Amino acid sequence: MHNFHKGWMVALLVTGGIGGLTEAWGSDRSEYRSVPARATPEERKLYKSECGSCHMAYPPGLLPARGWEKLMGGLEHHFGDNAELDVATAENLKRFLSAHAAERAEGKLARKVLASIAGGDAPTRISQVGYFLKEHRKIPEKIIKSPEVASLSRCENCHARAEEGMFDEGEIRVPGLGVWKD
Ligand code: HEC
Ligand code: HEC
Repeated sequence: MHNFHKGWMVALLVTGGIGGLTEAWGSDRSEYRSVPARATPEERKLYKSECGSCHMAYPPGLLPARGWEKLMGGLEHHFGDNAELDVATAENLKRFLSAHAAERAEGKLARKVLASIAGGDAPTRISQVGYFLKEHRKIPEKIIKSPEVASLSRCENCHARAEEGMFDEGEIRVPGLGVWKD
């Protein structure tokens, strides 16, 4: 086996297969890493299975803990959907999200997110946080409404590695526009 493939196999084994997709949360390569490496593979797996079926599993570092707590307290009325979970699972995930929320995440992105939210606010939508609105204000409305994008909540349609917490400008591909040039 080629060395590269061996390395990849080891990485998969160490991080627990598919759960390893989210390993880059703890990666040193991105200044935007939003979850410290201390999240266990079991926690990531639970998060991805319970909160990554209707949409991508959003990196926890994109909202403050108070926002996640509010969101987790109202899962039966979740943006027009019912995402209710049993109490124990909901508590587990609430702890996970708070432990890796913007206040505790590493990297520049989490700090910018926090700086753009007023102290008393507990946003439950990443796509309505001040920093997010500022970064996305130049994208034409007709592109956002196109079937390929559908909504700004669908981060992965323009940021291929969004679920890993990677939003580097060099990786942005907007359907209908191609490589983004500011
Ligand atoms: C039954 C489907 C479903 C499940 C399960 C679900 N969600 Fe959602 N979620 C939605 C829908 C629908 C939206 C609104 C998306 C939109 O407006 O395009 C949403 C939106 C969100 C948003 C706001 C996205 C934005 O615009 O910034 C967050 C954050 C979120 N969900 C977190 C979670 C978490 C955490 C869990 C697990 C506890 C979860 N979701 C489970 C359906 C679901
Ligand atoms: C329609 C495509 C599209 C969608 C959907 C989208 N983005 Fe973006 N995003 C962009 C573009 C384009 C930029 C660069 C804007 C600029 O530089 O003017 C950007 C910039 C960013 C940046 C700043 C990157 C940097 O290096 O400065 C972050 C962080 C980000 N997006 C996060 C998100 C998150 C989180 C979501 C989902 C909740 C999301 N985006 C959804 C297109 C999109």
